Amino acid sequence: MHKPDFKEAKTTDKRPYETKKFSLEDAYKNYFSGKTYFLKTYGCQMNEHDSEVIEALLEEMGFQKEEDYEKADLIVLNTCSIRENAHNKAFGMLGRCKHLKEKRPDLMLGLCGCMSQEEVVVEEVCKHYPFLNFVVGTHNFYQIPELLVKSLQEGLQVEVFSREKDLIEDLPTERKTSYKAYVNIIYGCDKFCTYCIVPYTRGRQRSRTKDAILEEVKQLLEDGYQEVTLLGQNVNAYGKDLYQDYSFGELLEDVAALGVPRIRFVTSHPWDFTDHMIDLLAKYPNIMPSIHLPVQSGSNRILKLMGRRYTKEMYLELVQKLKAKIPNLALSTDVIVGFPGESEEDFEETLALVDICQFDNAFTFMYSKRVGTPAEKLPQQIEESVKEERLQRLNERVNHFFLENNKKLVGTTQKVLVEGASLKQKDAYFGYTETNKLVNFSGKDLAIGQIVPVIIEDAKTWSLDGRAN
Ligand code: SAH
Ligand code: SF4
Ligand code: F3S
Repeated sequence: MHKPDFKEAKTTDKRPYETKKFSLEDAYKNYFSGKTYFLKTYGCQMNEHDSEVIEALLEEMGFQKEEDYEKADLIVLNTCSIRENAHNKAFGMLGRCKHLKEKRPDLMLGLCGCMSQEEVVVEEVCKHYPFLNFVVGTHNFYQIPELLVKSLQEGLQVEVFSREKDLIEDLPTERKTSYKAYVNIIYGCDKFCTYCIVPYTRGRQRSRTKDAILEEVKQLLEDGYQEVTLLGQNVNAYGKDLYQDYSFGELLEDVAALGVPRIRFVTSHPWDFTDHMIDLLAKYPNIMPSIHLPVQSGSNRILKLMGRRYTKEMYLELVQKLKAKIPNLALSTDVIVGFPGESEEDFEETLALVDICQFDNAFTFMYSKRVGTPAEKLPQQIEESVKEERLQRLNERVNHFFLENNKKLVGTTQKVLVEGASLKQKDAYFGYTETNKLVNFSGKDLAIGQIVPVIIEDAKTWSLDGRAN
């Protein structure tokens, strides 16, 4: 077993790596014909997209999807390590799987995703759940087919690499919809924010080549996709690890020029957000006016302890520039409350920043201590009750602005990508605006995956109501 090594992951050398093509050995094709699988995804969009690949691999092996885990022949947990509750949820599910396995000894079980990259988790799984078929890391999850087959003869297969491996291209993907697609542009993260486990679980930053990305987008366009989301933990660092002079801005412009109707990208780190990117947002109507720009805190002291590399003033200046050049911009963010040492004054600075930025959406979290990260060792860890109280106050404040911003849209017409029809109500649909706001609306005979104008009639905190025709 190759154990994750935090020290090793922190070296700063630029390593060349290769790009290889994927081929599922014919031996595994249809090996499991007639069997079913249940796949549970716990994490972010990257994790979701990995699940789309895992589903395709399993389906090539002959598995069929089963929505009820109790009935499935194979259960795969694609885990997330970002906060303790994600970790606990996966272990809760492992416990239920253990009971199921006692009743059904032929049940196959596997663990993959970010938790597989944590040494403590791998040790615990090997000790308490040795009946699993495989534990596979984030750098080699495409090996699930061969490891699953091998496990049937040899028992638990643990294959986790502490360092990132070559980038594998042309993996099959079972996309969730035929109109919206995720496209990975960069893997891993080099920022090492002091609270965050991602650089250890996903490895150093590695960009896919320009050609591979543009090929994938062209294919999606040919297949009729309406929306492409460029994915990475830090998309605007794209290209910095490549031996070519090609930045995220240039990639974004090339993708926009291909003519995809809607382009989005997540997540942007404020430190890497360039004026060129702002200009592109203003210039290309198919780059959606919706930016996710995690701020984490409004206190310079805390931002410094977090290792975020920007000050509150730099963040506010960026927001001001964005709002000035993109009038219909919807801005969303992530905030952590209760980072070690956060005082009431620091927290109030975060509230004050929220008042200025007036976010359209915000994901708010209580700081969660992660094993192996620098913040774990910081003094003055904050009590849970204080974190809870701050989270509640923060949520009240951000929710106020969600509603206020939504109210401003009442009476306007918004372009909405139709994503589904209501199961309960006739002639009722839902979809998302260009600014990524959920709209529930009435309409007749609308096709899913189509972009339609919708008149906004009412605003709620989390959604809009309207009518299409
Ligand atoms: N790469 C992105 C998102 C990373 S994870 C970025 O840099 O913004 C998504 C969010 O989870 C983070 O933005 C942060 O707000 C939150 N998060 C990460 N580690 C956390 C921790 N230890 N405790 C609480 N929240 C955390
Ligand atoms: Fe984590 Fe920071 Fe990287 Fe985001 S930028 S993934 S918060 S280390
Ligand atoms: Fe979670 Fe890993 Fe994503 S820790 S948030 S699944 S990168």
